[in-house]
Amino acid sequence: LPQRVLTGRHVIVTSGPTHEPIDSVRYIANRSSGAQGSAIAAALRDLGARVSFVTGPAEVPPPEGVEVIPVETAREMREAVEDALPADAAVMAAAVADWHVVNARQGKIKKDGSGALPDLQFAENPDILAWISRLPQGRPGLVVGFAAETDHVLENATAKRARKGCDWILANDVSPATGIMGGTENAVTLISAEGAESWPRLSKAEVARRLAARLADALNARNNP
Ligand code: C5P
Repeated sequence: LPQRVLTGRHVIVTSGPTHEPIDSVRYIANRSSGAQGSAIAAALRDLGARVSFVTGPAEVPPPEGVEVIPVETAREMREAVEDALPADAAVMAAAVADWHVVNARQGKIKKDGSGALPDLQFAENPDILAWISRLPQGRPGLVVGFAAETDHVLENATAKRARKGCDWILANDVSPATGIMGGTENAVTLISAEGAESWPRLSKAEVARRLAARLADALNARNNP
């Protein structure tokens, strides 16, 4: 059994897609199985952490032994994360929709036979990672984001780390040739203030275990220098 090096720590994990309603039966979403987020929550739990698992409607079930906070939209996800604070660390693995429909309708938008198209108006969703990274008070000591990129992975992810203000970015190459999207494996590069470190292609469970172990090292190094 792994040492329970995160006992007494609270970690918030976001996972899955968000669903942004168009009407009562339709929504906009990103493709996300929730597999990597669930694996991360399980790995943190295995190291003894108390995990608040804020999840959109994912395909993969949440792990046992974590507090599951189900949400639908990005706005609900941000509020659930805020309600779960304070935390020692936050791992934002959700594939959050960038926009929501402002004029979402109650009931179902009908085709009226005239060929008229629905006039959807969009507004930007809160960026939960950028928001938590820049909290003036109560910012978790370690904030981790993901960057799913299809090209210039390192440059884009490094820029994303600076733009979001998070401590670490786990960058992965999701170009179709990698087969990572929806698959069981992941190939990531961990980007921190110290630089970039590429991990070999691993199962999502192994990526999660490595991340949880690194996170425990970082938190424990800070508290016992
Ligand atoms: O901006 P982009 O979606 O590429 O950034 C990905 C990272 O930001 C992920 O960690 C994701 O969970 C997080 N994110 C967020 N809220 C958003 C958009 C992305 O937390 N609205």
